Amino acid sequence: PKFETVPAEASTPIDELREEVEDCRACPLWANATQAVFGEGPAEARIVVVGEQPGDKEDIVGRPFVGPAGALFDRAAKDAGLDRSKVYVTNAVKHFKFEPRGKFRLHKTPGPTEIAACRPWLERELAAIRPSLVVAMGATAARAVVGRPVKIGEARGSVIEREDGPDLLVTVHPSFLLRLPDEDRKQVEYARFVEDLRLAAKVAK
Ligand code: URA
Repeated sequence: PKFETVPAEASTPIDELREEVEDCRACPLWANATQAVFGEGPAEARIVVVGEQPGDKEDIVGRPFVGPAGALFDRAAKDAGLDRSKVYVTNAVKHFKFEPRGKFRLHKTPGPTEIAACRPWLERELAAIRPSLVVAMGATAARAVVGRPVKIGEARGSVIEREDGPDLLVTVHPSFLLRLPDEDRKQVEYARFVEDLRLAAKVAK
């Protein structure tokens, strides 16, 4: 079968999950990626930040948010008074999805089947860490957290309380900011992103 389901056990320690994920064959993305990139951060973190998937650099290094999007996230977190070292950072999808283009590997957005196949890993991370708040950056992350499509423009910027999981704050993905061609718009959107992270830091004390 092409898609297998990862057994959703209660709570396995993060380090064990990180080892297990390297053997994941729940979707076909493992085949072309260098490695699975699992989340990183303190096991007692109050906030889990979720991105989309590892990028080119993350795929090579094996750690989340170490490339350009990560640098922007770090800067925004700092401006928001959110200490990255106290946050657990992960991705909705653990393998890099790309298209070879000459010597480059072009990022491809993961689809609903890949998000669904990878979702048990995120759920197991959340079960192990038990944060009070999840920050979903972008549509892929938000979909992975709630299990259905989310409109970022409608959901962003306020804390959504959920009965079946930690509170949720939806915001934009830092790559969205990197792609904005207009400098003024970029500044405005960056400021909004920082405000969202500031709210996260405030409510998850
Ligand atoms: N973009 C993401 O969503 N996650 C990463 O780890 C890097 C870039």
